[in-house]
Amino acid sequence: MTRPRIFETIAALRKEVEIARRDGRRIALVPTMGALHDGHLSLVRSAQERADFVMASIFVNPTQFAPNEDFDAYPRDHEADIAKLAELGIDAVFLPTVGEMYPKGFATGVTVGGPARDLESATRPHFFNGVALVVTKLLLAALPDLAIFGEKDYQQLCVIRQFVRDLNMPVEIAGAPTVREGDGLAMSSRNRYLSPQDRHKAALLPVVLRDILKALDDGTHVPEALADGIRRLKEDGFEVDYLELRSAETLAPVDDATAEMRLLAAARLGDTRLIDNMAWSKPRAS
Ligand code: PAJ
Repeated sequence: MTRPRIFETIAALRKEVEIARRDGRRIALVPTMGALHDGHLSLVRSAQERADFVMASIFVNPTQFAPNEDFDAYPRDHEADIAKLAELGIDAVFLPTVGEMYPKGFATGVTVGGPARDLESATRPHFFNGVALVVTKLLLAALPDLAIFGEKDYQQLCVIRQFVRDLNMPVEIAGAPTVREGDGLAMSSRNRYLSPQDRHKAALLPVVLRDILKALDDGTHVPEALADGIRRLKEDGFEVDYLELRSAETLAPVDDATAEMRLLAAARLGDTRLIDNMAWSKPRAS
């Protein structure tokens, strides 16, 4: 197991990427905020299948946290993260400081619309502008051919695809499927905040999503299927922020013509907010 090369400055990272590019290698970046679990690691593996020089970034991005959110408490464990990445044989890790990414006097923002509207933005209006800003900076710092993001954060993936297209960034954006725990709960760095009792309850979220898809397959109307799902979650002590069926491509509300859809949910158990989503398309008339 070789320790990956670690870069803390954009200048040093760029130099390394330049060498890899000169060698004709295809370059991939996997942006993360650390506290790595198997979901993150699956993105790295997928990057390794599609590229010859793979980097991960670990940066807890202050601009995507509101003042009342968990920026200070967000789990940070660089040594454990680097060990996991080393085990996969990753080529490089970008570990910038807040000062490197946002030096004194920093004064620029990125504003996103389209798929960034509502869902997550209803409760976290600052969030996607912060994600768009840091992902733009990471892509410009690392200059990869390919960047991979998880479908776990489906709205985030749609927003990133949108601004990369709108700003003509020369990078391919790939999505990777959600990795789940044995009981179906989507892996998340924040799951560790759940009390044992809430951790047990949390597994109901993907069960309810799957049951809604089954009801839709069986012909239940969308509003009834969603209302039943919300009722079940509330009965089990979840506070539901949203549970909605949207166009998989644009995240706009669905109509009869929408072919590919996404069921998206956010719900809170105690202080922990869980998000999840699943794909759905209308069964073909036989
Ligand atoms: P973070 O929550 O650390 O997630 C990093 C990447 O891992 C994201 O693309 C996310 O969708 C993916 N991921 C998380 N859990 C996953 C799971 N269970 N299965 C598959 N993929 C999963 O998302 C962020 O960081 C940040 O917003 C970031 C994009 C790095 C910008 O700061």
